[in-house]
Amino acid sequence: MADTFTLTNNNTGETVDLQLHEGTTGPSAIEISTLYKEKGLLAYDPGFVSTASCQSAITYIDGEAGILRYRGYPIEQLAANSNFLEVAHLLINGELPTTSELIKFEEIISHHTMIKESMRNFFHGFHYNAHPMSIMIGVVGSLSSFYHDSLDIHDPRHREISAHRLIAKMPTIAAACYKHSVSEPIMYPQNNLDYCGNFLHMMFSTPCEPYIPNKTAIDAMNLLFILHADHEQNASTSTVRLAGSSGANPFACIASGIASLWGPAHGGANEAVLTMLEEIGDVSNIDKYIAKAKDKNDPFRLMGFGHRVYRNFDPRATIIRKMCHQVLSNLADNNNPMFELAMKLEEVALNDEYFIERKLYPNVDYYSGIIYRALNIPTNMFTVMFAIARTVGWVAHWSEMIADPMQRIGRPRQLYVGATERDYVSIDKRK
Ligand code: CMC
Repeated sequence: MADTFTLTNNNTGETVDLQLHEGTTGPSAIEISTLYKEKGLLAYDPGFVSTASCQSAITYIDGEAGILRYRGYPIEQLAANSNFLEVAHLLINGELPTTSELIKFEEIISHHTMIKESMRNFFHGFHYNAHPMSIMIGVVGSLSSFYHDSLDIHDPRHREISAHRLIAKMPTIAAACYKHSVSEPIMYPQNNLDYCGNFLHMMFSTPCEPYIPNKTAIDAMNLLFILHADHEQNASTSTVRLAGSSGANPFACIASGIASLWGPAHGGANEAVLTMLEEIGDVSNIDKYIAKAKDKNDPFRLMGFGHRVYRNFDPRATIIRKMCHQVLSNLADNNNPMFELAMKLEEVALNDEYFIERKLYPNVDYYSGIIYRALNIPTNMFTVMFAIARTVGWVAHWSEMIADPMQRIGRPRQLYVGATERDYVSIDKRK
């Protein structure tokens, strides 16, 4: 018999046996799906702190130990040896590709990089100073109006084509968002370049002057994209899953994930970190901002610090911190004052009782913005960069969910705390 967990009502002594599910690694989960039917009870867990919303075989995190693995492979090994498209193949298909599989995958992705010519016109309809994330949400959502040929979500081949299209077109859309904001012509992709090199070309080439991406920039971007590619059931991935659970098309689902990612508590943090560092301005102001972050009456938080799951260190931040040194010295920017300020702020916070007690450590986004800044990516594009990488995780989770025979529409319940029943009062009698 499967292991069970018994819940007891302390008032009535009534008990209920709940089935325990074992994963391959990590904590077990108590199945409560029958709780309402059998006992009329709901589980209450705001923020889903102790709730496993699904089974997944894609990414494993142990927040206490600072472990992150994609399909079983430690993030440190992937960061040291792999590149973004190889990791994309791994996340989507479950295995690292063989040489021929990787060549084929790269070829498929590079041949889906163009967007429809009429879609290029969309960008001109946005206000000149629109935030690129707002443009991206709209344009990615609109992809479904172009690809009716692959919208049968129950057909595995259709799901695969949609995944390829999304991964391939995100850099093209992202670069077009940027080009619109600087009133430059939108560049076509170049399929002889690799994924990151092609993105840099579309960002910085103009029709009158090619941009030749350098190796440091390409390597840095590959690393950042690998680190951002997936992170199990975070807010945006859960949004994609919930949107997809109703049978919505993949482009609409990924657009909803981009919207969720934009928030400063999630992917918007990398932009917020740079804005914060600019506001702090100088090491002499650090104490003032640390005090603000600790003040419960002040909404200010130290951006790039803290994580729902990591309570010891964020393994991505450890990797990225090292990369920061390398990129800044290779790009002859090793006196970057922003980096100096970030290091000092980190040191002060890590030695402060408030941050120690609450186990608040720098997360991946504390340093990613500094690297993007060194690569000349504008601050309002940082979260867009995150979205390009996370698209791989989103489509992997979306496909996994749709292929799951147990999949049902996601429909959380609530603990109702509003008014009890009352009678309608006509407007002339209301006080
Ligand atoms: N600065 C100051 N205090 C903080 C911070 C911070 N960055 N983060 C958490 N706290 C405090 C919080 O006020 C609370 O204190 P108390 O127990 O006295 O009420 C305690 O630490 C626990 O915080 P919480 O808000 O309950 O934690 P959470 O798990 O709900 O939130 C978080 C996690 C990442 C949203 C939060 O730490 C935060 O807002 N950090 C800044 C934004 C950020 O860097 N986000 C990027 C996350 S990593 C990239 C990604 O995956 O998207």
